[in-house]
Amino acid sequence: MREFENSGGHMIFGGMRADEIAKKYGTPVYVTDEDLLRANYRSVHNAFSKYMDTRVHYACKANSSLAILKILEQEGSYIDAVSVGEVITCMKAGFDASRILYTGTSVSTHELNEVAKLKVPINIDSASELERLAKIDTGMDISVRITPGVGSGHCDKVVTGAEGSKFGIPMDAAVETYGRALDLGFKPKGIHAHIGSGGYTAEPFMESVSVLIEKTNEIKDELGLELQYINMGGGFKVPYKPNEPEMDVEEIASAVTDMILDETSVRTIALEPGRYIVCDTTILLTRCNDVKLTGIKNYIGVDAGFNTLIRPAFYGSYHHVAIANKFNKACEGKYDVVGPICESGDHIARDRALPAPEEGDIIAVYNAGAYAFSMSSTYNSRPRCREVLVNNGKTELIRDNETMEDLLRHQVIPKRLL
Ligand SMILES: Cc1ncc(COP(=O)(O)O)c(C=O)c1O
Repeated sequence: MREFENSGGHMIFGGMRADEIAKKYGTPVYVTDEDLLRANYRSVHNAFSKYMDTRVHYACKANSSLAILKILEQEGSYIDAVSVGEVITCMKAGFDASRILYTGTSVSTHELNEVAKLKVPINIDSASELERLAKIDTGMDISVRITPGVGSGHCDKVVTGAEGSKFGIPMDAAVETYGRALDLGFKPKGIHAHIGSGGYTAEPFMESVSVLIEKTNEIKDELGLELQYINMGGGFKVPYKPNEPEMDVEEIASAVTDMILDETSVRTIALEPGRYIVCDTTILLTRCNDVKLTGIKNYIGVDAGFNTLIRPAFYGSYHHVAIANKFNKACEGKYDVVGPICESGDHIARDRALPAPEEGDIIAVYNAGAYAFSMSSTYNSRPRCREVLVNNGKTELIRDNETMEDLLRHQVIPKRLL
């Protein structure tokens, strides 16, 4: 987990006092450090590109804010997009269609048409999707998503590659699917698998890539089709807890590229990290509204709930928390950090040792860059919050907060009820 500097009892984020950012922009607010974002992208790209031609497709579902996408566009990133909405958002941030790969699941024909119109390469998830795309345009640049029979992830909800998964084409049907694609007139360029999100060890990645290598060679031998790239998906772990070990991306890069270079004629690797690139670039700042000591539990009631950050409630995820304006104070008790949502599951953190809290304190929630804002909602009719970028000791608003007008805009009361 990334540690932050302390200056006179104040948490420093991107060279600025976190509590002052909260004061300037209000809370809750997501704050991203541009330097960290660029450094994360470069570290993963450099780890692989020293061995092979590398395309890092940032999985923008993790965080699809335009300013974040623009920074990654400047860095040379490619994109993994899962919906036509993500495709359009990335194009708005300056990505050319050729730098986006659309990987949908349960894809509607309408969406296939939309993506095809935009000329965005499509990673086929099912036999039905292949047949339907053939009726739209067999000139499309395609690859195929295989279920590699290897799963990994921080919890069951995000394991995608295990046998029987809803994602991809079963590995035993891989060669047949490429054969069918050729018959239909396509010329598939790549092969893809994604095992899940936030897995801990290198082995599942290696196992999954071995399956992709085996299938690549079978496709070449049996169909005479030489694929141009192997796409190993995303899923690199990020430490959320203090002292949790980091994933060794250098080791994975070296092992995986070695295998591909030794065992195939493929010379381009694609990968799709989302979490790894954005997670630790961002904190969520939330204000303490309320301190409640029940005798059984101590609560810090803050203004961010699972509408703002759903991961703890949805996945049981751990997010480290600190009081940004009491950064050097000794811990005095254990507290649950809870939000304003009317559900007892609305916890940001449980049983955390913290200094004595007071109303108005600013709580920093760590690792809030991935699957945080992008999964936020307006539940309980609470408009979504602001996002701010920090760069060179300066802050810039990159997303304004929604208003009640935004929430009500699309709703209609039928005339007969008025
Ligand atoms: C196909 C695909 N690629 C990449 C990712 C990104 O995973 P992560 O953010 O864990 O790197 C996902 C996440 O669900 C995915 O479904």
